Amino acid sequence: MKPGYKSIYEQYRHSIVSGLLKPGDKVPSVRVLASELGVARKTVETAWAILIGEGYLISQGARGTRVNPDLILPAQKPASKQSIVEEKPRAMMEVLRDQQGFLRLGIPSLDAFPYKKWLLLCGKAVRSMQPLEMTNPPLVGYTPLREAIAHYVNVSRGLSCSAEQVFITSGYSNNLRLILNTLATERDKVLFEDPGYFFGQQALKRAAANLHFVPVDDQGVNVDYLLRYHNDAHLLFVTPSHQSPLAVTLSLPRKHQLLKWASQNESWIIEDDYDGEFHYTRKVLPAMKSLDRDDRVIYMGTFSKTVMPALRIGYLVLPRAALARFHETAALTESGQPVLTQKILAAFLGEGHFYQHLKKMRTLYSQRRKHMLTALENIYPHLFNVEVSDGGMHIIAFLRTSTQDVALAEIWQCHDLQVSPLSRWYNQTSKRYGLIIGYTNVRSYAEAEALLQRPATETRALLASSRSSGQTTNEGEIPRRSEKR
Ligand SMILES: Cc1ncc(COP(=O)(O)O)c(C=O)c1O
Repeated sequence: MKPGYKSIYEQYRHSIVSGLLKPGDKVPSVRVLASELGVARKTVETAWAILIGEGYLISQGARGTRVNPDLILPAQKPASKQSIVEEKPRAMMEVLRDQQGFLRLGIPSLDAFPYKKWLLLCGKAVRSMQPLEMTNPPLVGYTPLREAIAHYVNVSRGLSCSAEQVFITSGYSNNLRLILNTLATERDKVLFEDPGYFFGQQALKRAAANLHFVPVDDQGVNVDYLLRYHNDAHLLFVTPSHQSPLAVTLSLPRKHQLLKWASQNESWIIEDDYDGEFHYTRKVLPAMKSLDRDDRVIYMGTFSKTVMPALRIGYLVLPRAALARFHETAALTESGQPVLTQKILAAFLGEGHFYQHLKKMRTLYSQRRKHMLTALENIYPHLFNVEVSDGGMHIIAFLRTSTQDVALAEIWQCHDLQVSPLSRWYNQTSKRYGLIIGYTNVRSYAEAEALLQRPATETRALLASSRSSGQTTNEGEIPRRSEKR
């Protein structure tokens, strides 16, 4: 029987994924392969179109079609017979999940995204592009999107800003660059939470020469510590809604303390509200920026958690007094974000789909979190300790009797479970140990159990050996407010 487009697609995909075809390798032309296999050209064209769409192949016009030279495949595991036998045709969603691994932190649910609506909006946005919108994009962002965001943060996050204060960026690293270039000099002291967002710390270690860390306890960033040791700081990066990664909420008195400090010292607070939309057990808390009477807070939002990371759209809500300075910087360092993407997103917000989606995701994530917690307890009774917080998109499975979270994470990653070891998110010597687990793409209890089962034997062996070797334990809670550091 002649092969159909699906089997050509699957064979080539398998050859690429298994390394038989390497990035940059040329694949046959449509004409040659069609004649070789005795199929219509259309059949090969369709298979190539899917592989190009998924990023496996790239077409280089007259130079032919090649395996994408920039393709990054997950690290090859030692090939087990089982993994080859299990290789089945999979839907595009599964391919995405493969590339990202399972349990990865911060990826919103890919199976529950309203693709149909999104596609409709994409089509509309493309058809309605005006000549003016095809010139250089506005540096500060596409006006209808800025308006839609201002409306959203005012209604849902308690802010009271105008669209002029909203600056559209490509996400976190763009935000950092813009803020540091505009507000800080080489010598200015910059503060970050400890533990704190891993990527943020790494980026700031490069970009800010005078960087310091402030410990986090059960009420969020330790403001007494800040006032005592770093009262002179110029910038503070903080995650008040759900501290990243510990997921505690910054207490109200501390929010007021910080705002007072910033006003008195003319310092800036950068509120990273990366997943503040997701609360499951109580009402969504307003952002800290909503309490900011003296306009000392720069609010940072992202659509990576609420829509999709591939969108690469984030935003800043800027203090009025600093707008002109940000615009001056942007004129030299920014080139604006793609208008088409912003147009689609503006319609997604403007037509109410975003709000509906958030509502659905709150219910879904709360169920998925339950599945993950139950599966964790059933498969690893007494090995982990989870402090269930009010929301967020991840849990931390604290190790009860071991400090070996780095070794453990490596084991899990070999099973394609892309968990992160908590201790790596600390800078100071006092650390906690555990696995940071994203659960938003785990579709059922059965799936949670099957995934957690994968590294079970090695996990038990590692934790048993670290217990018998008498390693210090991690048992206990986040340091309380009164604890000295
Ligand atoms: C703490 C924190 N802040 C911000 C972001 C958003 O980054 P971006 O908008 O670049 O996706 C993330 C994403 O993982 C995050 O974990």
